[in-house]
Amino acid sequence: MESKEILISISDLHREFQMGDGIVVKALRGISMEIYKGEFVVVLGPSGSGKTTLLNQIGGIDSPTHGSIKIKGIEITEWSANKLAEYRRNKVGWIFQFFNLIPSLRVWENVGLALEFQGKRKMIKTHCISILDAVGLGDKIDRFPSQLSGGEQQRVAIARALVKNPDLIVADEPTGNLDFVTGQKIANLMKELNQEFGGTYIVVSHDVSMTKKADRVFHLRDGHIESFESNKVIAVENPY
Ligand SMILES: Nc1ncnc2c1ncn2[C@@H]1O[C@H](COP(=O)(O)OP(=O)(O)OP(=O)(O)O)[C@@H](O)[C@H]1O
Ligand SMILES: [Mg+2]
Repeated sequence: MESKEILISISDLHREFQMGDGIVVKALRGISMEIYKGEFVVVLGPSGSGKTTLLNQIGGIDSPTHGSIKIKGIEITEWSANKLAEYRRNKVGWIFQFFNLIPSLRVWENVGLALEFQGKRKMIKTHCISILDAVGLGDKIDRFPSQLSGGEQQRVAIARALVKNPDLIVADEPTGNLDFVTGQKIANLMKELNQEFGGTYIVVSHDVSMTKKADRVFHLRDGHIESFESNKVIAVENPY
């Protein structure tokens, strides 16, 4: 049996969007879940079920209408905009479907930007090269994004997310723009990095290569968690 610490504790989370015409869109309708430190979680669900909205709440991009999100026992829904921005910058690595690289910057500079935003100017290049080595791009650090394949561009985006050594990596359809085999390689890489560096991964993905790697798979429907499957038997340590 594997023993785990709780990293994220979510309770009765709601997110409503008020539309101009008085209509209210209920994107999240009472989500409760716990995510363990070092876990690789996949979130599945039909289009519009609330997957991106849920990631945005956990990653500090958006705030819920109601409910609680605790990270290491600390309530983040009460934080100011500045404190949330600091959390996003320092503690969360984001990976998107469309890699969102800056075309005019070289590979290592795209990765280094994440550190510059943290105000860490020293040792940026050395640090970027070591993480680019880890994602298999050590020989392409001076290229521009347009000189890379889609899979390689996603590797740069993964390196950019990991270079800050974040507690949490959130990924929204990271293989959605890649062919099956390339997607499989990215899923393998993310799982290897999870095992090697021990970050906690929350990945929205319909890709079977990704769901096969998951410790747990959560199914969302209409803003609810409909069910989840676990590939591991877990004993919880230090519950908050
Ligand atoms: N800013 C917003 N304003 C109004 N409605 C929104 C907003 N963001 C999301 N929604 C609505 O909330 C619901 C959930 O959206 P969300 O983007 O989380 O879905 P999703 O599961 O990520 O879908 P997809 O698989 O298509 O990416 C949808 O009905 C969507 O239209
Ligand atoms: Mg989405």
